[in-house]
Amino acid sequence: MWRRMSSSAPPKTFHVKSFGCQMNAYDGARMSELLEAEGLSAADSADADLVVLNTCHIREKAAEKVYSDIGRLIKREDGSKPMIAVAGCVAQAEGAEIARRAPAVGVVVGPQAYHRLPELVAKAASGATAIDTDMPAEPKFKALPGRRRQGPTAFLTVQEGCDKFCTYCVVPYTRGAEVSRPWAQVMDEARALIEMGAREITLLGQNVNAWVDEGRGLHDLIAAMDRLPGLERIRYTTSHPNDMSEGLIRAHGEVAKLMPFLHLPVQSGSDRTLKAMNRSHATDSYLRVIERVRAARPDIALSGDFIVGFPGETDADFEATLRIVEATRYAQAYSFKYSPRPGTPAATMDDQVPAEVADERLQRLQALINAQQLAFNQATVGRRTSVLLERRGKHPGQLIGKSPWLQSIHLETEAAIGDLVEVDILSAGPNSLGGAEAVKQAA
Ligand code: 5AD
Ligand code: SF4
Repeated sequence: MWRRMSSSAPPKTFHVKSFGCQMNAYDGARMSELLEAEGLSAADSADADLVVLNTCHIREKAAEKVYSDIGRLIKREDGSKPMIAVAGCVAQAEGAEIARRAPAVGVVVGPQAYHRLPELVAKAASGATAIDTDMPAEPKFKALPGRRRQGPTAFLTVQEGCDKFCTYCVVPYTRGAEVSRPWAQVMDEARALIEMGAREITLLGQNVNAWVDEGRGLHDLIAAMDRLPGLERIRYTTSHPNDMSEGLIRAHGEVAKLMPFLHLPVQSGSDRTLKAMNRSHATDSYLRVIERVRAARPDIALSGDFIVGFPGETDADFEATLRIVEATRYAQAYSFKYSPRPGTPAATMDDQVPAEVADERLQRLQALINAQQLAFNQATVGRRTSVLLERRGKHPGQLIGKSPWLQSIHLETEAAIGDLVEVDILSAGPNSLGGAEAVKQAA
């Protein structure tokens, strides 16, 4: 810790901006609750006294965003200077380096230490730079205040960290080793969320399938949540193919509230590339898991993640990726250009793929994925399904909600946000669908 230029009044208002994954969105919500419990009130980023940038380190572009945001914050039109806190995975990975590169930053706090945010903010207000990137054995969850306001859909982190060490990935370094939150703590939080209006809960973890407590696995937790009155929908993410247990696959056929959606990244369709990535599964074992999941729940919507341009990836390796996408028929998928991350084994591998080659591969893969997404959506036109209304649309009277398959459905309705309505799907585009509320039949 060292002295910064000057001390300042303790902040009265705050703004939390989260980048990256859903776990960051969850952490961002918890930080907001923590600051509110301390008496601060929420404000826009343009005039908050304290701005928390909850950052993502997964790819270089994501990591660089924090510095352009800091640049914007120190050049506010009205000349005011907010206290800037950098939280999340860039904070964990870069630590004090951030304050060196951007002296306007007053607080640097990692994903396992943000329960200490109020102390750190107080320290920063006194003129010091407050840095905390500890990974304490005593988990932060116990120290956080209870959940506050809540919309109809809620995230609930049940597991953090990853022990898989894929050779491209920073997660095992930024989020640490796999840790599961205890059963009772998770169930208590779920009940609190439902009490505040959550009708859908998404269980989150970097490797959520690895959740375990005294021999009970994720499928046991899902079965217990299924019995919670008031809860209508359960989802979970993200999963590793090797941890799709028999019980979890069976749950997809048996648990009524578990939605027919599975995000199961394979990253590449080439066994050679998978090996270099240290994925510890092959393409055929992935396809077998998909087959078993589809047998349990035939209408399941599948999602995935792909990396193109991994070091050593040849044209033939890439063609194999296109083939596994064709074989799987995704409802949606994310694809990324490989981004070398400092400290990971892949960053120093030979045969880094030239940017133009990776760009071209990414475009081809995304064209295929978009076509599959459109085909999946079109195949649901004509179906009647439940939609959980989440937010207002652009047009008056229009609301947007999600189908069980996580599609965004737009419809005109008199119903309210948080309602679960029966909808006829009428039209489909690649990213959203149009529907009409089904006319209720007289009983
Ligand atoms: N470069 C590109 N994509 C990456 N991912 C993780 N690390 C990298 C990297 N270094 C992708 C993977 C992962 C998703 C969250 O981000 O596809 O599943
Ligand atoms: Fe990263 Fe692999 Fe762990 Fe996913 S499974 S978080 S890609 S190391």
